[in-house]
Amino acid sequence: MRPWNALEPCNGAPSKSLRIRYSIRRYNDGDLLTTKQVKLGLIASGDGSNHWAWRDASIVPGSSIDIDYYRRLASAAESAMLDFLFLVDFSFVHPDSPPHMLNQFEPLTLLSALTATTSRIGLVATASTSFNEPFNLARQFSSLDILSEGRAGWNLVTSGQEEAAANFGAMKHQDHDLRYEIAEEHLHVVRGLWDSWEDDAFVYDTAEGIYYSSGKLHALNHTGRFFSVKGRRILAVIATAVGPSLRWVCESLAVSAGAH
Ligand SMILES: Cc1cc2nc3c(=O)[nH]c(=O)nc-3n(C[C@H](O)[C@H](O)[C@H](O)COP(=O)(O)O)c2cc1C
Repeated sequence: MRPWNALEPCNGAPSKSLRIRYSIRRYNDGDLLTTKQVKLGLIASGDGSNHWAWRDASIVPGSSIDIDYYRRLASAAESAMLDFLFLVDFSFVHPDSPPHMLNQFEPLTLLSALTATTSRIGLVATASTSFNEPFNLARQFSSLDILSEGRAGWNLVTSGQEEAAANFGAMKHQDHDLRYEIAEEHLHVVRGLWDSWEDDAFVYDTAEGIYYSSGKLHALNHTGRFFSVKGRRILAVIATAVGPSLRWVCESLAVSAGAH
């Protein structure tokens, strides 16, 4: 009997990007129920995400803040045809945090640096909707998307740890359901900001003195329960084949992983 759930290479010719495609096939008593393609990524965690990994002979202590280490890792992951490199992030540390949490780069900053030495792999940064304004994240992820020519991804988290609130002037930690209500509105605002420029808005017509088509810039004018954002985004958009699809896949993966 076939396993209920199997991870198998997809049949057929490799895709244009030459990435290896895997699919999850669900069986019931030998009958194929569904086939779903998955993307494979690497969680990069420098000195190690558990307390003792940093003592292993294969790990160079200090790699969590070593740009050369990340350059080599990203190149290796790209050569291995992985779909994305994934950086975790937390908004606090305590004395017992694992080494990688105690001493790590801010993800969007590090991934921006890695755009210079990679060309195909997706670059996924963790960012919290509880401790960032939608305007800032919309702008930062747009910048990463443009720098990487459409390879940015967002692991959207709500920061469930009580200690995090104390780093942002909030005395009280938000409960689970409230955090996810905020996250939903936050994401709605970010998407609205991303959509505020139409794809072909910038015409750069030097002869006529027209920098952009005025009808293609839209204000968001969002007033909700948690956010009030007039909008417009301070950055153009890029239209690439892989960009939007990778961005949405990673984001929805993270949202569904974070939701029950
Ligand atoms: C693949 C994966 C990566 C995650 N990375 C982070 C992270 O970097 N930072 C963080 O605060 N939480 C991270 N989480 C935790 C989730 O955001 C979420 O809090 C957790 O899955 C528990 O769900 P809940 O918030 O509904 O209780 C991650 C979860 C998964 C499955």
